[in-house]
Amino acid sequence: MQDYDRFYSKLGRSFKPGVLTTVVLKAFDLMKQGKKIISLTGGSYDVPSMPWQEVKSIFAEAPCEAWSEMLQYGNTTGTPQLRAELAKFMAEASIESDPDSEIIVTTGSQEAIDLVTRVFIDPGDVIIVGAPTYLSALSAFKQMDPDFMEVPIDADGMDVDVMESKLKRLKADGGSAKLLYVIPSFQNPTSTMLPMERRKRILELAEEYDLLIMEDNPYGYISFEGPMPTPLAGMDKSGRVLYTSTFSKIVSPGMRVGWLKGEGECIAKMAEAKSRISIMNDGLAQYAAAEMFRRGDVARQIPKVIGVYRKKRDVMLESMETSFPKEAEWNDPRGGLFLWVKMPEHVNTTEILMEAVDRGVAYIPGSNFFTRPVHNYIRLNYSLPSEADIVEGIQIFGDLLKEKI
Ligand SMILES: Cc1ncc(COP(=O)(O)O)c(C=O)c1O
Repeated sequence: MQDYDRFYSKLGRSFKPGVLTTVVLKAFDLMKQGKKIISLTGGSYDVPSMPWQEVKSIFAEAPCEAWSEMLQYGNTTGTPQLRAELAKFMAEASIESDPDSEIIVTTGSQEAIDLVTRVFIDPGDVIIVGAPTYLSALSAFKQMDPDFMEVPIDADGMDVDVMESKLKRLKADGGSAKLLYVIPSFQNPTSTMLPMERRKRILELAEEYDLLIMEDNPYGYISFEGPMPTPLAGMDKSGRVLYTSTFSKIVSPGMRVGWLKGEGECIAKMAEAKSRISIMNDGLAQYAAAEMFRRGDVARQIPKVIGVYRKKRDVMLESMETSFPKEAEWNDPRGGLFLWVKMPEHVNTTEILMEAVDRGVAYIPGSNFFTRPVHNYIRLNYSLPSEADIVEGIQIFGDLLKEKI
């Protein structure tokens, strides 16, 4: 077998299996041996809620002309039908956009983050991120070797006062930040919600310090207690906010339908960047997505999964009250798919992961969501496991954590 090591680029060398891959491989091995592993890891979709009947009838009823479009090469920015539906969908959240020039359909929001990285980030640029924040956004940004400015996440999301003082200090030292990456609604991994006051303050700071904002909104629609608050992109007066959202949490992650909204010239650049790697999006998924909007399937699917996830959140919270050690602290998420748990500092959740998997439960250690070593947090997902598996998984994990206290 060829050893490619001497050929790898600097970037290629940096690609190492992430925690999800490692956990999944280990779990897969154990499952092959007949062992049950309960996954509380990624933000996967509740399987019984998947809209497979809707997708099936969309394809069964598709006219001939639609098939020739679906199976042909198309625009890198996405089909006109889907972009028009996305513009309407965003308008419901107060985000105005021109579907012809301000939207690009992407292979999930992950590709949108990658495109923003390629188009805007140079090595050494300062990116402001929450501490903690979405691990795969950090991985995408790291490809360009930026500097990170971490802003703590408190019970109300990013602490804007700390952000302001860090920006002030950086400016006084002759530096500046370029991009703020923010997940305002039901943030990953903490599920915190940025209040309106903080949203306004962030937009003011962006003006004052000339920042570009990337707003990532996969979870805002999964709100258990009221309508989704207005995204920053719906309040932005100067075109500073690049906005991404996705089908992954509301309709289907397997369809890989995400999108990015920005002003015209930058979207044209995104299309160039995208055409170097994926040429265009999947024609079948785009057709189904546009039809799902047109038929009202998306509008019906959102309240359906909200109901399922609210119930699962309640089951997980109840199980934790019963089974977790009293030293553990966690939030009560009002939306989204995750619980964020703080353990006493001496409990290293990275080190005990494989032991947990051996016992039949997998989770994501909190260290993956920081740019520096922090080892006493845990992210738990409740959207994928059944209610019975949530109870069982939390009990197994709670027993292990009690031993480690
Ligand atoms: C905050 C955040 N952004 C982006 C993504 C990527 O989603 P997609 O499946 O649309 O690529 C995720 C997925 O979990 C996420 O949590």
